[in-house]
Amino acid sequence: MSRVAVIGAGYVGLTTAACLARLGHDVVCADLDAERVAHLKKGEVPILESGLPALLAEGLAARRLDFVVGAVNAARGADMVFLCVQTPQGDDGAADLSYVEAVAREIAPVLGPNAVVINKSTVPVGSTRFVQRVLSEAGLSHDNITVVSNPEFLREGQAVHDFLNPERIVIGCDQPEPAVRVTELYKGVHAPVLVTDPASAEMIKYASNAFLATKVSFINAIANLCEAVDADVREVAIGMGYDGRIGFQFLHPGPGYGGSCFPKDVAALLHAARDAGYEFELLAGVVEVNRAQQERIVDKLRAAVGGALAGKVVAAWGLTFKADTDDLRDSPALAICRRLVEEGATVRAYDPVAGERARGTVAEVELCADVYDASTDVDVVALLTEWDEFRWVDFERIAAVMRRPSIVDARNLLDPAAMRRRGFDYVAVGRR
Ligand code: UDX
Repeated sequence: MSRVAVIGAGYVGLTTAACLARLGHDVVCADLDAERVAHLKKGEVPILESGLPALLAEGLAARRLDFVVGAVNAARGADMVFLCVQTPQGDDGAADLSYVEAVAREIAPVLGPNAVVINKSTVPVGSTRFVQRVLSEAGLSHDNITVVSNPEFLREGQAVHDFLNPERIVIGCDQPEPAVRVTELYKGVHAPVLVTDPASAEMIKYASNAFLATKVSFINAIANLCEAVDADVREVAIGMGYDGRIGFQFLHPGPGYGGSCFPKDVAALLHAARDAGYEFELLAGVVEVNRAQQERIVDKLRAAVGGALAGKVVAAWGLTFKADTDDLRDSPALAICRRLVEEGATVRAYDPVAGERARGTVAEVELCADVYDASTDVDVVALLTEWDEFRWVDFERIAAVMRRPSIVDARNLLDPAAMRRRGFDYVAVGRR
């Protein structure tokens, strides 16, 4: 078992720390935010991730997991140091590596002999060499310290499951010994291990996210075409999905992709491609389709209220970028709410978990206690996030409190025929 440091207690860092403790390693997780560390030391998890609170409690109780303030306090004496800090999108779309660089400079002097520094943050191609260079400049006390790329593929809402049941483990390293040591960290996890060069490992991460985003934009484009030719995208996706080369996953049309990863990673890849002299037209198209998809939902809502949104009241069901997370970052639902307000509509919103958090984010939207409250005296319901509880709503009661029963289902969550039988004007994405 190894002494592992994890720098950064966000989605990736917390999940990595708790899961590595579960695998039997001694883990110290560091963050700059003293208040966050204090909560974590008490087992209080600041994000919604199923299974994470129990894993934290287990690790803390077994004294295999601890939290400290400051990277140095975790890195000193560690065999392995995971960098899980943020790489936000810069103004020009490039990934901002300043947090990664700052941590590398900070820990360099305290890294022990043979330590392995592992990049788990999403970082552009070439970042492993960049971190190696920064460490050398910052005064390493030992010269046999290696930087390895080990991208994560976890989805928010299922992060613990995805970490412990990955489809593959990717390790980017030119030297066999550190690569073997990183592989051993995952002892107990059953998945193919791909050991490759750092640049390819870094590209695997971006290419995977960009491909998934492309799949989402593709099915949204097909949904839009289905509307024009009177086909049903749900049937089309099933027919496509039977082909093992396509698969059923990521063929759900909706308001476009969002979240803390796809938009940022696609922009960073586009930027890196341009920098490298390659105009990635296909990916530029993916971004454009995604931007236009949000606007299509606004168009549907405008049509549902008779052509003009000014003075109308819209109920927004869901604010998070997808279900089963409390994350509002780059949420299509929030972007649509803002567009509706821009057009003069009043928006009454309900989200099962992110209501309070949204209060600070979208001041101009009224936050409501539940779907019935949000739907009272509104002209149309906009179903924007696919929370399961929206399937089980009492639609008779909804119809009774609305000005008239009308719903735009931007997630194709509900059954069109059943909604129409209930007397609703029902509009979905690419469905009849
Ligand atoms: C994603 C990747 O899935 C994960 O492997 C990577 O590590 C981080 O980025 P996440 O951001 O949690 O994970 O979201 P994901 O579940 O992939 O969904 C991304 C966006 O696409 C969401 O807005 C979601 O609503 C949308 N989406 C996804 C669709 O609109 N249709 C689909 O069929 C799938």
